[in-house]
Amino acid sequence: MTGKEGFDLVVVANRLPVDFTVGPGGDVEWNRSPGGLVTALEPVMQASDGAWVGWSGAPDLASEPFDADDMRLVPVTLSADEIERYYEGFSNDTLWPLYHDVISPPTYHRTWWEAYRRVNQRFADAAVAQVSPGGVVWVHDYQLQLVPQMIRAQRPDVRIGFFNHIPFPPLELFQQLPWRRQVLDGLLGADLVGFQRAGDAANFIRAVRRLRAHTTRGPIITVPGEDGRDRHVRAAAFPISIDSRRFDELARTPEVQQRSREIRADLGDPDIMMLGVDRLDYTKGIRHRIKAYGELLQDGRLDVEHATLVQVASPSRENVDAYQELREHVEGAVGRINGEYAEIGHAAIHYLHHSYPPEEMAALYLAADVMLVTALRDGMNLVAKEYVAARSDDRGVLVLSEFTGAADELSSGALLVNPHDIDGMKDIIVAAAHMDHREQRKRMRRLRRKVLSDDVAKWSESFLGVLTAMPSRVPHRRQDDAGHDGAQADLAVEAGA
Ligand code: F6P
Repeated sequence: MTGKEGFDLVVVANRLPVDFTVGPGGDVEWNRSPGGLVTALEPVMQASDGAWVGWSGAPDLASEPFDADDMRLVPVTLSADEIERYYEGFSNDTLWPLYHDVISPPTYHRTWWEAYRRVNQRFADAAVAQVSPGGVVWVHDYQLQLVPQMIRAQRPDVRIGFFNHIPFPPLELFQQLPWRRQVLDGLLGADLVGFQRAGDAANFIRAVRRLRAHTTRGPIITVPGEDGRDRHVRAAAFPISIDSRRFDELARTPEVQQRSREIRADLGDPDIMMLGVDRLDYTKGIRHRIKAYGELLQDGRLDVEHATLVQVASPSRENVDAYQELREHVEGAVGRINGEYAEIGHAAIHYLHHSYPPEEMAALYLAADVMLVTALRDGMNLVAKEYVAARSDDRGVLVLSEFTGAADELSSGALLVNPHDIDGMKDIIVAAAHMDHREQRKRMRRLRRKVLSDDVAKWSESFLGVLTAMPSRVPHRRQDDAGHDGAQADLAVEAGA
């Protein structure tokens, strides 16, 4: 804070960009966590006097705001009961499956909704206490959809952006949610609502039209205020990316290159190393991928002396039943396939239930001939972009599900698959395994041009640029009050007419 009342930019996200450890004397230590969002926002936070509001990640851990990396970090405390109902329950067993095509059935509990509302209010209050007059608040993701409206109710002076990192579902699914109107109203508290894909923004606008009856024109939604004044909310796509340069540089270091050679040697120097890297989540299509791989071994189109699959599945949301069931299924399938096809010194699948630091990930990407991203639904999928950023040698093939946000951007170089079509996926995996180097280079160059130019810094600049350039912060009267249609005039400006 620079001697004034509050911070000019306040980020609100479910998690703080730090992990904590409790020392032997019970003292809490904070260490920076290497998430994509903090990398994206660090430069703007440092340049613009920023604060970050988020959960510490553990039950009942209370801490005063503190400074780290030129940012003010503001921990929000959650009790064990709130973690169960707000985080594991409503966020990850109601909204997560509903927003991912109901791959797993969503659970609707009124007590979870109550906790979601209460916790969203706590995040909103913390943001309100930090933001300077006329400042900017940027709220992130599905855990915090009510926060924009809650902030606006207390601070109409601030500009509010919201970015949804996961898909926004079609109306036919979204309308299952018993609290669908409250969620839309929560989001409509923002000035700008950002999504990964144009299709997500279109789903949101359609839901607003049908369930709230607000007027929409292109990306602009007109929200009537209780005081007879309208507000304009813009909904549009801002596909997120990674810090591509940093990943590219990391993968060029001698240490990472050496490690990638070691990995291949430790795997028995296979002709074809395939790689899957995912949080252990049912949206990622890990079961479908393993099924296809197992059938290719069974059919004899691949064999363990020449090919192997490394599957990194990092632990995630382990208290939620659907995640426990998935783990059992995946581990059962890996065990069966290895039992059936592995030979001494030649595993069919190397399954790693761990998280790894970026250096090890870069080495794995460099070692892999084929990267398998077969999600059933994914907001973006940053693993696909990391693989591309690591491949400065222009080698490797990206097999990419049509149902990822990344497919909208990377279709010209990746081999697209429908993971529900197991036979189709098997053919594509075989084609990827046998692709000649010239074709690999041609495709990888196209992918790298895209990933290296559209990086995460560009993403955050573009979102904040649109948010801060939005026309009027002062609400205008509706036609019946002011005698002219102010809303329409403003709309023409925003649409560039
Ligand atoms: O993709 C949505 C997301 O919330 C990411 O922002 C995050 O990295 C991931 O899911 C893991 O989520 P959690 O905080 O539940 O571990």
